[in-house]
Amino acid sequence: MSWLYKTFVRPNFFERDSEEAHNLVIRQLGWAVRRRWALGLARRCLGGPDLPIELFGLKFPNPIGLAAGMDKGGGAVPAWEALGFGFSELGGITRHEQPGNPKPRMFRVVEDEALINRMGFNNPGADSMAERLRGWRDDNRWPSHPVGINLGKSKGTPLDEAPEDYLYSFQLLKNLADFFVVNVSSPNTPNLRQLQDKTALAEILSALQEANDSQRPILVKVAPDLGFDALDEILELIEPHNLTGLVATNTTIARPDETEPVRAKLYAEAGGLSGRPLAKRSTEVIRHLYRQTRGEVPLIGVGGIFTAEDAWEKITAGASLLQIYSSLVYEGPQINRSLLKGLAKRLANEGLAEIRDAVGIAS
Ligand code: FNR
Repeated sequence: MSWLYKTFVRPNFFERDSEEAHNLVIRQLGWAVRRRWALGLARRCLGGPDLPIELFGLKFPNPIGLAAGMDKGGGAVPAWEALGFGFSELGGITRHEQPGNPKPRMFRVVEDEALINRMGFNNPGADSMAERLRGWRDDNRWPSHPVGINLGKSKGTPLDEAPEDYLYSFQLLKNLADFFVVNVSSPNTPNLRQLQDKTALAEILSALQEANDSQRPILVKVAPDLGFDALDEILELIEPHNLTGLVATNTTIARPDETEPVRAKLYAEAGGLSGRPLAKRSTEVIRHLYRQTRGEVPLIGVGGIFTAEDAWEKITAGASLLQIYSSLVYEGPQINRSLLKGLAKRLANEGLAEIRDAVGIAS
């Protein structure tokens, strides 16, 4: 299946600009999800073994989720479950609709199976997102797996008004999704990552929790570029602000050493790097967070997961759930089946009954 994608489908996408190909896929999925036969076919061909895990009061049919940024505007909400994902994270959504940065703003480093993006939170805004999500629900097309929403800050909102900006989106969307991720780690909105500072983040979390009457799980997504001390400061917010967990990690501003001219030029593009080159650092961050919290805080691991071995590394380092973005682009939609089959086999080989038993065993 991966061979079919790489031979016939991927070349067609990869001859287009990266963002154009992405928009085409979302449009095609948006078409497919309105045809029940297409969803059924996808489910049959792409679904993997069940590897259920229950976490923060939600039941996940398997631990592989869609990472934020793929379905920024909620245009293909029912598709992700049909593609075998155990959960999906929509967005990033900001209070105001935004066009994002000038194009081109998304680049492939094909040899390294990496992406660089500086999208800058292009999204339809919280009001439109709420309307779209209601539409999927009213149409009876809402997926049965857990759905999260990634919340970002509008570009035009000054940092000291960030709490109200996040709060606006949360208020509108809080009854439309199962969990929320506060994104203060995108490298593509000027100064956003300063909100990872303990005091600034505390203000955002206080505002959200005050409005969180239905007790939705709220997680924070961290950058791989934070040092361990800065991560530890964020951990100090968990108890006082009733944080459910952390998503580790977002894209990195770091770059591999590269002398080959074509790749070096791509790596010189501004933005966040994802895919294979991110894997090692994101696992280091997960391992650190797991150790510091003695495994008591749920972690979602994301960054460069391409194979079941990569997935196993992140789970055993401490992640209870995983997410993918770049590998979906490079490997195609059968990636979930291959990750899940590989994980099921690995569990059996290790004599473990379920994913939960493997979390953190190599931390
Ligand atoms: C992202 N990512 C992202 N993250 C986030 O929290 N909010 C967002 O809006 C986006 N947008 C976004 C756009 C594009 C084009 C990419 C490639 C990535 C980051 C993403 O969710 C994930 O953390 C990283 O891509 C690392 O995972 P992979 O790609 O290595 O599996």
